[in-house]
Amino acid sequence: MRTTVAMRRLTAETELRPRDMVLPVFIKEGIAEPQPVSSMPGVVQHTRDSLRKAAAEAAAVGVGGIIVFGIPAVKDERGGQADDPDGISQRALADIRAETGDELVVMADLCLCEYTDHGHCGILSPRGGQHSGEVLNDPTLERYAATAVAQARAGAHVVAPSGMMDGQVGAIRAALDAAGFIDTAICAYSVKYASAFYGPFREAAEGAPRFGDRATHQQDPANANESLREVELDIAEGADMVMVKPALAYLDVIRRVADEVRVPVGAYQVSGEFAMVEAAAANGWLDRDKTIMETLTSIRRAGAGFVLTYWATEVARRIR
Ligand code: PBG
Repeated sequence: MRTTVAMRRLTAETELRPRDMVLPVFIKEGIAEPQPVSSMPGVVQHTRDSLRKAAAEAAAVGVGGIIVFGIPAVKDERGGQADDPDGISQRALADIRAETGDELVVMADLCLCEYTDHGHCGILSPRGGQHSGEVLNDPTLERYAATAVAQARAGAHVVAPSGMMDGQVGAIRAALDAAGFIDTAICAYSVKYASAFYGPFREAAEGAPRFGDRATHQQDPANANESLREVELDIAEGADMVMVKPALAYLDVIRRVADEVRVPVGAYQVSGEFAMVEAAAANGWLDRDKTIMETLTSIRRAGAGFVLTYWATEVARRIR
């Protein structure tokens, strides 16, 4: 059954389609030209204009969705720009909706690390005391709830909480409903590991923690059962879709989650996965296009219904 292309195509078990992919994008306030991200060749921090073009391009080739990460000009202790109606993320979400309507599923990454001056994903306890400099779960939930409402008001079809606070999905669902955004969906980053593969993203989104790490709230790469607990909790709290992140080092986890749940499962092929392939290809060590297709197909084969990938537009154009 492997003798010809037609035979292999007829008997293939897995397919990657443009609509299975979601494009992550970065929008930066106060720049006149798109800024390249050195550790992610081909990826830029967008201006509002260049982002509108990128969204239109993604829609034109049939990409399924887009997820927005905003980088404000001013950061503070509580991430005040995250829920500001005039904040850069809200403007970008509205721009994309104006450009693409309902053609693309417009998602908003919901976290505070790009908006806080300390780079942590939430409100910190005062330094020096018992919980010195730790992210405080419950005060952070209030900030996430307000941010979700601002993102929905700006036009997000989906909000995607990525901060790994306990109870975040429930808090966001309640706030969205109370504000009348009953149809805004929640895609929970339910399974998010404390991963070294986020390195390049932290340059792109300017959200690296100034001190410490995220190991107290993101998951330990040693654990998989824990992922199923996280997913169960999020679904019980109202998650409409769940996500596993990173993808390639966690294909077993994607498979287990996909077998366990009855909601759509996504996977995030993160910045480090992207950078590894680009760097090796630039050295002539890997066939770039074949490697990209193999990784994306494998993530789908593991059970992901949709994949967040920085290659979404390029690959959609190629496979269409
Ligand atoms: C948090 C967030 C991160 C990523 C997506 N959302 C970074 C982190 O937790 O440090 C990483 C995505 C990537 O590496 O491509 N807002």
